[in-house]
Amino acid sequence: MEGDEHKIKNSIIRRNLTGSILKNHYRPIITNLCDSLVNELYQKKSFEFTSNFGKKFSLLTTFNLISISHERIDWFLERLSAIASFATGFELTEEKIQAALLASEELEVAILELISERRSHPGNDIISFIINKNDSHDQLSDSEIVTLSLNILLAASEPVDKVLANCIYYLYRNRNCIDHLAEGSCSYHSVVQESLRLSPPVHLIPRLIENNTCFEGINLKEGNLIFCLIPSANRDDKYFYAPNNFDPLRKFKRHISYGAGMHTCIGAQFANMQLSIALQKLTPVVEKYKEVKPPEFGGIYTRGATKYFLERI
Ligand code: HEM
Repeated sequence: MEGDEHKIKNSIIRRNLTGSILKNHYRPIITNLCDSLVNELYQKKSFEFTSNFGKKFSLLTTFNLISISHERIDWFLERLSAIASFATGFELTEEKIQAALLASEELEVAILELISERRSHPGNDIISFIINKNDSHDQLSDSEIVTLSLNILLAASEPVDKVLANCIYYLYRNRNCIDHLAEGSCSYHSVVQESLRLSPPVHLIPRLIENNTCFEGINLKEGNLIFCLIPSANRDDKYFYAPNNFDPLRKFKRHISYGAGMHTCIGAQFANMQLSIALQKLTPVVEKYKEVKPPEFGGIYTRGATKYFLERI
């Protein structure tokens, strides 16, 4: 997405996902949701973190942005997973391609229904905001709203569960950090940022070269496909002292896990808020549960724990 459509969509999301709306509207909703999911964990002697917390938390918080009923989580999860595995897979079978096509058609129908519902019953969500805007300069068609909603659902739900699993993975291996959090000498935000730096969930960003150019002494030709490796940039020792160490107290924190340039993540403020809230609620879980075994990591475009089993101490 580029040009005017990109500008309009960016400005709509920014207006709805930053500043006082975040603090006054979304923070209490996310805090309550997180409390109820953490309480569900405490009912269990053992659980798999990604499916019992990470995926649910990331998807349900995103549902609030576009007013999707929480009861539809399994339906949406199944279809979004099919699209994500199509978008990030290297060896795609015909079966996976067909599943992704069907999923995107079904999601389109579901979101068109939501748009029509929001027209008769507006809510406090991004779709209602777009529909009720009077400014004819940035009116979006229904199909543009569908694309925007799908962008948000995929972009917002894919990385968040991975960051949370990484955060607790680092807490298990850096127990002193839990003490620093309790004393207040380290913030939850700093732990989230250091985890994002060391293990970025969006791992690899492809770009197509538009014009012949030279970058850092390397000639790039029009039509070349290049892959930007975010974890490599985030561990550049020109910028980060002891780059492979987990150190939430490090002074220089400017990782590029939210991307850079015109396509930089527009949900970063929202993500930082939801991640800090969740980590604060999950830290006591880390003290009451232990790892059954170290997590399994997977993925190339997006990368994170695929299975992470914990059990009560
Ligand atoms: C930890 C959480 C997140 C991470 C690490 C992350 C990372 C990224 C990265 C690296 C990009 C740039 C991709 C590129 O250059 O091709 C991006 C773009 C984007 N992100 Fe996020 N994201 C996160 C959460 C979110 C959330 C919560 C939302 C929405 C609520 C969101 C919405 C978007 C959108 C719409 C774009 C496309 C922006 C554009 O093309 O201009 N992201 N994200």
